[in-house]
Amino acid sequence: MRMNDRQTVARQYQDDGNLSKRIKLHAKHSTSPTAFADWCFAQYSFSENDRILELGCGNGAQWCGRAGNLPAGAMLVLSDLSAGMVEAARQANAGHPRILAQQMDIQAIPYPAESFDRVIANHISHG
Ligand SMILES: C[S@@+](CC[C@H](N)C(=O)[O-])C[C@H]1O[C@@H](n2cnc3c(N)ncnc32)[C@H](O)[C@@H]1O
Repeated sequence: MRMNDRQTVARQYQDDGNLSKRIKLHAKHSTSPTAFADWCFAQYSFSENDRILELGCGNGAQWCGRAGNLPAGAMLVLSDLSAGMVEAARQANAGHPRILAQQMDIQAIPYPAESFDRVIANHISHG
């Protein structure tokens, strides 16, 4: 599979079906005592009122049950190139007033510089 080919990436991630299967596979067979998302959240350092942008968020499952990690006043934009992923992320975090989901290409971020205090981008090395 050529993961630096935009059409291949679009096909692979048109919805969260393949990604969800891979996440379940890792959860089942990982030998690490710490789930990857828990490890990530242990590295993050958020402050009150932070504006946080996650690029290539996939289905947003990493935030499910962890939205409490957002400090007071902080807001999070979950973004992904794939409309299907954005919809999955929106549904996964529905009801959280400070988590938004938005379709976005990491190569054309539609915000001016300095719009965010923290940017997260995990597992996205595609061209
Ligand atoms: C392996 S998944 C990682 C998802 C999530 N970050 C995680 O760690 O579980 C890669 C994600 O990057 C997204 N992606 C690929 N190219 C992108 C681009 N140019 N801009 C934004 N997202 C992109 C894909 O749609 C996919 O959801």
